[in-house]
Amino acid sequence: HHHVQFATAEGVEAVVDTGHFHPEAILWQRLEAYQQAGGYQLLADCRGGRVSVDTLMATLENAGLRGLGGAGFPTFKKWHFVRQEPGPRYCVINADEGEPGTFKDRYHLEKSPHQFLEGALISAWAVEAKALYIYLRDEYPGLRRVLGEAVGELVQAGLVASEYIVLRRGAGAYICGEESALIESLEGKPGKPRHRPPYVAQQGLFGRPTLVNNVETVYWIAPIWQQGAEWFAGQGRNGRSGLRSFSVSGRVKYPGVYLAPAGITLRELVDEYCGGMAEGHQLAAYLPGGASGGILPASKADVPLDFDTLQNHGCFIGSAAVIVLSQQDNLQAVATNLLAFFADESCGQCTPCRVGTEKMHLLLERDNWDLGQLTRLAQVMQDASICGLGQAAPNPVLGLLKDFRAELAQQQIIVSDAAEAILKGSAP
Ligand code: NAI
Ligand code: SF4
Repeated sequence: HHHVQFATAEGVEAVVDTGHFHPEAILWQRLEAYQQAGGYQLLADCRGGRVSVDTLMATLENAGLRGLGGAGFPTFKKWHFVRQEPGPRYCVINADEGEPGTFKDRYHLEKSPHQFLEGALISAWAVEAKALYIYLRDEYPGLRRVLGEAVGELVQAGLVASEYIVLRRGAGAYICGEESALIESLEGKPGKPRHRPPYVAQQGLFGRPTLVNNVETVYWIAPIWQQGAEWFAGQGRNGRSGLRSFSVSGRVKYPGVYLAPAGITLRELVDEYCGGMAEGHQLAAYLPGGASGGILPASKADVPLDFDTLQNHGCFIGSAAVIVLSQQDNLQAVATNLLAFFADESCGQCTPCRVGTEKMHLLLERDNWDLGQLTRLAQVMQDASICGLGQAAPNPVLGLLKDFRAELAQQQIIVSDAAEAILKGSAP
């Protein structure tokens, strides 16, 4: 069993025992309750011509809604790109939440599948999609049942045609969360990312223009419309704007999903939302964006966490999966574990990633890290990998080499530059 806490600045809203493999234990908001709270009104207004696509897009633009799968691409702009292309078009929801440390989509789906479905149907309406595909992570069997039942309620109520929503199971591959690999998988092929351009907005599912949105992105559409763009945009902190669902795990007292202002710092997040650090643990490092978003030292716990704010530190917030590490965590173990993950999940299509992740993993297992070799390998992976997996895989290692020399030395890792030593004639 897995406990998820959902908190706002006003306090803990709900503590849910999700009963991982016991879907009957999940208490989700049924259609009737959602409608009584004003649910599906926006969808009806959109379909009835009382709300135009342009008005809705302007609202999303003013709210500053960005792609919450992790890339932060402006949502209204993505809709615009897809709408520019000729029909037929498709809408695909990425529910393959696979970033290590990320579990926010799962939380929102478990609690309010209809709020999500309304947003998904509105996105599909916005691009006049021929069908709406939902690609659900197969490790969420409870959710498959929840979504299946919720869609069933919609069909029963006559709100959607029975064949319009296609709920598809993922197959346990991290790479199938990459949008073009996801589309390949939907088409029945192995999940291998495509080169771009063309973007999936131009040539996506079955070669047609396709809108791919993350679960949480569409989850916010109805509330933003109901409560206003200013409500959402006005929530930030430290000069940032909006709300983010942080999945916090690691050495904090209360790990969980926390709805917090964009731009909150790690220190504020841990102290105000997570009950502080776990007993006996002091903050040593944190991963702001899961396995791929890099790693930061405790001295950078006051940096605002948001899209665009971590670039100078070689990191990104991604899906806001914050993993908190303490002085009790072994940095070499962290690095080798992450690279083993990437090597395992690489689709193998391109050499810099397939060979690079394997090689980096081997290099990190040694207690003598070769700075030159690691940074050059990282450079090749970043520059020449086809997709984000290979490009981001070296991020945690680069972070350790940049900010954690003293800690590595303490943990008996010697960072040296063999090539440099050879050039200087001082190599053994
Ligand atoms: P990206 O920045 O390349 O693309 C973002 C989105 O914008 C895509 O849908 C892309 O098609 C669209 N786009 C960008 N430029 C466009 C253009 N000129 N015309 C039309 N569409 C355009 O990022 P990517 O590779 O899709 O996602 C990377 C992020 O995914 C990372 O930040 C990472 O944190 C996150 N991620 C999340 C995971 C999760 O489980 N939530 C798992 C792994 C990675
Ligand atoms: Fe596949 Fe890795 Fe290349 Fe992406 S970077 S296409 S996961 S081999």
